[in-house]
Amino acid sequence: MSVSTASGPVAAVIGWPVKHSRSPLIHRHWLARYGIAGDYVRHAVAPEEIDAFLAGFASGPFIGANVTVPHKEAAFAAVARADGVASALGAVNTLWLENGQLVGGNTDALGFLANLDQRAPAFARMAGPALVLGAGGAARAVLFALKSRGFGPIHVVNRSRDRAEALVERFGAPLAVAGWEDVPRLLTEAAIIVNTTSLGMEGQPPLAIDLGPARDDCLVTDIVYVPLETPLLKAARARGLSTVDGLGMLLHQAAPGFERWFGVRPEVTEELRAVILADM
Ligand code: ATR
Repeated sequence: MSVSTASGPVAAVIGWPVKHSRSPLIHRHWLARYGIAGDYVRHAVAPEEIDAFLAGFASGPFIGANVTVPHKEAAFAAVARADGVASALGAVNTLWLENGQLVGGNTDALGFLANLDQRAPAFARMAGPALVLGAGGAARAVLFALKSRGFGPIHVVNRSRDRAEALVERFGAPLAVAGWEDVPRLLTEAAIIVNTTSLGMEGQPPLAIDLGPARDDCLVTDIVYVPLETPLLKAARARGLSTVDGLGMLLHQAAPGFERWFGVRPEVTEELRAVILADM
């Protein structure tokens, strides 16, 4: 991927593969909307090249970058300084330069919360038990976010129990590991249910849980946003539960980086959602 010849600073999303990333659509929408000269490009970096790439970042063409799969941990290891959330997660998704040094932050947890705050008015007043399905990279940010808002107990259910155990160990109480067999009981208690697995994503089997026992005031949200309405969200809506789709997390996690690189705090609007949806 070549660097744009547009005038002004250029930021990038770094991943492997990166060609499906929708981040350029988001940042180019904001650049146009706020009349900023600059660009945002996809930049593929192979796993065996990431350490050298990050070591040379300050003398490279980009003023900053988003980092996506599989480089978030490598980025955390490479930065001269990481913000508090990145340190807690052990993963960096946003890079910028300070006095020629590479600095990293993590905006995934904030993106998760900002999406719920924007789209579920009741979320700000919610408390109590949470049920999180999955224990991968996305789960890390979600668990940290829910803990930071005072939810608890937070039960983590994952196919590979050892990954759930590792996250519970990382974040401590009020997190707890549970099994799939516990889900019907946990549903009767949970104020919020979050799917962080890839189940329900286009081309993947659906997440097969019966929401019948769920609390009537439960909020159901999914990290998956392709399709926008996953089988889980469809079932939740059919059951009369409130739902929030995963697209807003992607949009909100992008905002802090844009502000750092280009100096304007961008808004996540319906118009921006429409831009991404038109590309799906
Ligand atoms: P991400 O960074 O998006 O979280 P990940 O780290 O690969 O991606 O995590 C994917 C999550 O989806 C994991 O919780 C994974 O379960 P495992 O830890 O057992 O692999 C879960 N997942 C993926 N496919 C699954 C399937 N077919 N059944 C159940 N869980 C699945």
